[in-house]
Amino acid sequence: MGDDPGLGDTGVKAEGLVKIFKDKKRGQVRAVDDVSFEAHPGEVFGLLGINGAGKTTTLRMLSTMLKPTSGDASVCGFSVTRQGTEVRRNIGFMSTATSLYGRLTAREMVVYFGKLNRMHPDKIEKRMKVLFELFDMNEFADTRCDKLSTGMKQKVSIVRTVLHDPQVMIFDEPTAGLDVLTSRTIVDFVRQCRIEKKCVIFSTHIMDEVDKLCDRVGLIHNGKLLACEPIEDLKSYTDSGRVEDAFVKIVEAKS
Ligand SMILES: Nc1ncnc2c1ncn2[C@@H]1O[C@H](COP(=O)(O)OP(=O)(O)OP(=O)(O)O)[C@@H](O)[C@H]1O
Ligand SMILES: [Mg+2]
Repeated sequence: MGDDPGLGDTGVKAEGLVKIFKDKKRGQVRAVDDVSFEAHPGEVFGLLGINGAGKTTTLRMLSTMLKPTSGDASVCGFSVTRQGTEVRRNIGFMSTATSLYGRLTAREMVVYFGKLNRMHPDKIEKRMKVLFELFDMNEFADTRCDKLSTGMKQKVSIVRTVLHDPQVMIFDEPTAGLDVLTSRTIVDFVRQCRIEKKCVIFSTHIMDEVDKLCDRVGLIHNGKLLACEPIEDLKSYTDSGRVEDAFVKIVEAKS
């Protein structure tokens, strides 16, 4: 893998990802247990699961923040275990723990990360202008991050994650804690990424969001991928055609 990704060089392929945590009180925790899937360019892939299912752990391995206990994944043809630098160059990763420097303004924060990604100053300015407009951020662009609301902070986190226009975007619960309008801006942005043939992977436990956004869904439970299919196939599991009903049915049948 990495040398022969078999997926072109613009998607993500997870192969047998396993993460075992050693926890003092709980002993060995199999947080992710043999997870394999593919996410293609021009596709939004949703990782759906309840609290503690293994979503964040999976996404952290894909983004090289966490080393798999076994298995591997390729991102744009590069192995997450052997070619971390190349992987990081091709992804934008927003975790729920993505933090901002309180003393910097929204604009300073974004510029700082653009420089870290070795972007040319002109390119930073250009891209920042587009994204600040898109996410309706101009009003608070020069406000210090520690004075921003949760939703405003979330927007800054997203912009700083996607500023360098990465091919693969990985978002861990991007709309958590956001109001309907702010959530909608993010949903629209993800749709735009799909049009631009990006590969977007995001995690959520919000069934409605999966229905609205995803082309394909991976259903994760107790670290295991119970299903991985196009959204329409998932919905056809039940007569109601609702993601939530399909989710419950699959979890009850397979876990
Ligand atoms: N650093 C760690 N050490 C020990 N156990 C961990 C660690 N990180 C996660 N876990 C455990 O791994 C399992 C999966 O956690 P994970 O954060 O991946 O779930 P999640 O699907 O993202 O849940 P949520 O919806 O609550 O964010 C949980 O049992 C969790 O307690
Ligand atoms: Mg999580």
